[in-house]
Amino acid sequence: MSAELIFVLGPGGVGKTTTSAVLALEAAARGQRVALITVDPARRLAQALGQSRLPHRPEAVPGADGLFAAMIDRGEAWSQVLERCKSEPRELEALRGNRYFRSLVSEFPGSLEYVASDVIVGLVEEADYDLVVVDTPPAADALAFLDAPRRLGKVFDGEFLRLLRGGGGLMSRAARHGGGMVRRVLSKFIGEATIEELAGFLQLMQEVLAFMRDRSRRMRALQYRPETRFVLVGAADTAQLGDLETFRDQLSQRDLPLSGLVVNRLVPPPPSEADCRAAAAGTGLEAWALDQYHLAATEAAAQRARVAAKTAWADGLPRFTVPCLPSEPKSLEELTLLLPYLAQPAGEAVEVDGP
Ligand SMILES: Nc1ncnc2c1ncn2[C@@H]1O[C@H](COP(=O)(O)OP(=O)(O)OP(=O)(O)O)[C@@H](O)[C@H]1O
Ligand SMILES: [Mg+2]
Repeated sequence: MSAELIFVLGPGGVGKTTTSAVLALEAAARGQRVALITVDPARRLAQALGQSRLPHRPEAVPGADGLFAAMIDRGEAWSQVLERCKSEPRELEALRGNRYFRSLVSEFPGSLEYVASDVIVGLVEEADYDLVVVDTPPAADALAFLDAPRRLGKVFDGEFLRLLRGGGGLMSRAARHGGGMVRRVLSKFIGEATIEELAGFLQLMQEVLAFMRDRSRRMRALQYRPETRFVLVGAADTAQLGDLETFRDQLSQRDLPLSGLVVNRLVPPPPSEADCRAAAAGTGLEAWALDQYHLAATEAAAQRARVAAKTAWADGLPRFTVPCLPSEPKSLEELTLLLPYLAQPAGEAVEVDGP
């Protein structure tokens, strides 16, 4: 059985991690078995779940039945890939010890997103979850994360072909002076290497690259299943809500529908004027309290109008508005406060009124 999949996308700092955690918590509360994984090396997800750290493989989150959480560790993910590809211990050791490989694991841009596709495909297709929620790293567009596996795969494949085309002449002019992308980027981190070293690395990587090519293909196929959803997050207190339209456009250029827009951290409107008067009655602060009430109400209304104008592009899309909590959510209890705002019946997003 393969799991449903939700990608939570959006720019930096808007609440992707928080939203991912709440969506996962909400599904687990409905009785689903949920894997919540973050591809962001920061520890924000652990913090939001009230944990000091998260393991590489999903483990049960204490206090949340059915919820399993993990933070993808680049080194462990690559190790897992190697072990699946290399049955010959000598080759395994050679690759592990190869300085190009070590640099790929620790520094090569996009290597985390690339190897994440193996983890995601594994969790969706080979594990026993109803839902997998993926908290993606911050990005300026929707394709940055979704396309990373294919992009990096292409770079490696291209480089490999270039070297092979060099023929017995791996030292051919093209290879020696061409300075392919992999060589250039790696040499930035570990210094100039000989073409033989690079060729040796790519040779050892052959099976790994073939395996990853297959994982990237499957990850792409997963994106096109009807059970897969893309949730875009923006924050009411940032200027870029209008810019999020590009995320929708890029997805639709790929025939991938955006399933919902989450507008996070809205200023909650104050309680009613009558409640405010009642609370201040007899304190001597009636006039001040009323002033504060009007200020807060005006600010909340102005923000809502701004948000409505900046998200007009999303008309017709399920939209969820999530209030700003008085402090950053750092426990399951605090995250639970946000559940009603992102609640949805199984498989189908509905609009929920804001606070
Ligand atoms: N509804 C909310 N109320 C109060 N604080 C919030 C809310 N949502 C998010 N935050 C806070 O805003 C900050 C950013 O949230 P979060 O880490 O979820 O964003 P992100 O998009 O995942 O960030 P990054 O791009 O850095 O990964 C955090 O400090 C978080 O605790
Ligand atoms: Mg995050």
